[in-house]
Amino acid sequence: MRKKLVAGNWKMHGSLVQNNELLDAVIAGTAGMRKGNCAVCVPYPYLSSVQSILQSTHITWGAQNVSQFSKGAYTGEVSAAMLNDFSCHYAIVGHSERRSLFGEDSHTVALKYTAVQNAGLMPILCVGESLQQRDTGVTQQVVTEQLDAVIGQAGVESLRKAVIAYEPVWAIGTGETATPQQAQEVHAFIRENIAKHDIAVAAGITILYGGSVKANNAAELFAMPDIDGGLIGGASLIAEDFVTICRAGQD
Ligand code: 13P
Repeated sequence: MRKKLVAGNWKMHGSLVQNNELLDAVIAGTAGMRKGNCAVCVPYPYLSSVQSILQSTHITWGAQNVSQFSKGAYTGEVSAAMLNDFSCHYAIVGHSERRSLFGEDSHTVALKYTAVQNAGLMPILCVGESLQQRDTGVTQQVVTEQLDAVIGQAGVESLRKAVIAYEPVWAIGTGETATPQQAQEVHAFIRENIAKHDIAVAAGITILYGGSVKANNAAELFAMPDIDGGLIGGASLIAEDFVTICRAGQD
């Protein structure tokens, strides 16, 4: 059976005080859940404190980005090995905000994906189309290009140690969630695409949905056959909502 995962993407939010409060409430609210079903991806400066808060709990943690380089004169960058020093389980790569606001193309994203895997962490690879791309009917081409860049660079087998997140850009932070059917359609397409390379890898890979997942719509999204959980932005900052979503996504 595929592993279910609900991961919070805090984006550039939080403070030491707020994080402590949020995590205390999430730990308590998700008590009894299986280890690894629930994760948070936090800003770099908080990795150390989040590690100490979560290390003896059932919640795992990760980063939201990583450098494609292993070390060197790259001012402001953070390597995958550094993330490993804080026992990160995950690093998000290719989030649409990185692609659109910071100019990351699919080639760069593929290099980051490989850097994360080489350090022994799991990449959460984000793919997804803009509204304009959906409206012009090129969703499948966009997602295929984003996925093929990674398969071409790292091989289909690498997906055994990765998570994919389908995040339609038009649904991120807008309150406009993809319907379960819209999301399912693209998730199934992604899985079929991977199956063309390797059926077993396709069957086993966890594919998350992200984009305005809330406490009141998570369960119906996660009930779809090819949706294995969620990558949660805004709602992951509200303990009660995130707990509800985590519980909707457990095995
Ligand atoms: P929202 O849940 O705020 O729409 O953000 C989704 C997202 O970008 C998660 O990575």
